Amino acid sequence: MEKLYEGKAKVLYREGPDTLRVYFKDEATAFNAQKRGVIPGKGAVNNKVSAALFRYLEAHGVKTHFLEEVSDREMRVRRVEILPLEVILRFKAAGSFARRYGLKEGTPLKMPLLEFSLKNDALGDPLICENAVLALGLTTEGELEGVKAATLRVGELLKAFFAERGLELVDFKLEFGKVGGEILLADEISPDTMRLWDEKGEPLDKDRFRKDLGGVEEAYREVLRRVLG
Ligand SMILES: Nc1ncnc2c1ncn2[C@@H]1O[C@H](COP(=O)(O)OP(=O)(O)O)[C@@H](O)[C@H]1O
Ligand SMILES: [Mg+2]
Repeated sequence: MEKLYEGKAKVLYREGPDTLRVYFKDEATAFNAQKRGVIPGKGAVNNKVSAALFRYLEAHGVKTHFLEEVSDREMRVRRVEILPLEVILRFKAAGSFARRYGLKEGTPLKMPLLEFSLKNDALGDPLICENAVLALGLTTEGELEGVKAATLRVGELLKAFFAERGLELVDFKLEFGKVGGEILLADEISPDTMRLWDEKGEPLDKDRFRKDLGGVEEAYREVLRRVLG
């Protein structure tokens, strides 16, 4: 298969005319790739967690790019034109949001907060407001409303899914893409792209790698165990 793109966490191959094979790597990056490492087993965990969550979301009416798992580390998806936006939904302050506003991580928010950043590694994925998204023509108004509604729905669904498994969903990042006039949820949903805290408030996600907390592989495996369990 022709390799189309190698990113920080995945490799994309052309499979059919409208489909891609996504290969999930063990390589990990943080802080706009200033920190690099390997988390053994991460690729398989992220593939399986993403597949399970895409299936769950589809079963609840969310349109996604997911077609099927093809191996431990690979899934088949519909090829889309990715919107150059990272769509973030936050339930509590953490990470860059906590730093930006000088908040302690874990500070509750009065409502789920939806934020956008421009998907541009060279610029460090800067925060972008809705008016700038529209003024720059990154999406139409209709597309933006669709993306926002889908993200809030995904937030409700994932929050409930993880709560049933003893995990608190603190925040997550989504990417959407267009194909044939439709907007689909794309990319991945994994411990690389969410913050998940266990019953003791311990992170079971990429923050263990970002902050050198140790037990990174174990945390990823535990998320997979709970997602499948
Ligand atoms: N269904 C899809 N069609 C086309 N591109 C996709 C699809 N799903 C994800 N992508 C893109 O695949 C790329 C590879 O993933 P990743 O390694 O995470 O890259 P990056 O380093 O850009 O974050 C991302 O840029 C993502 O936007
Ligand atoms: Mg990525």
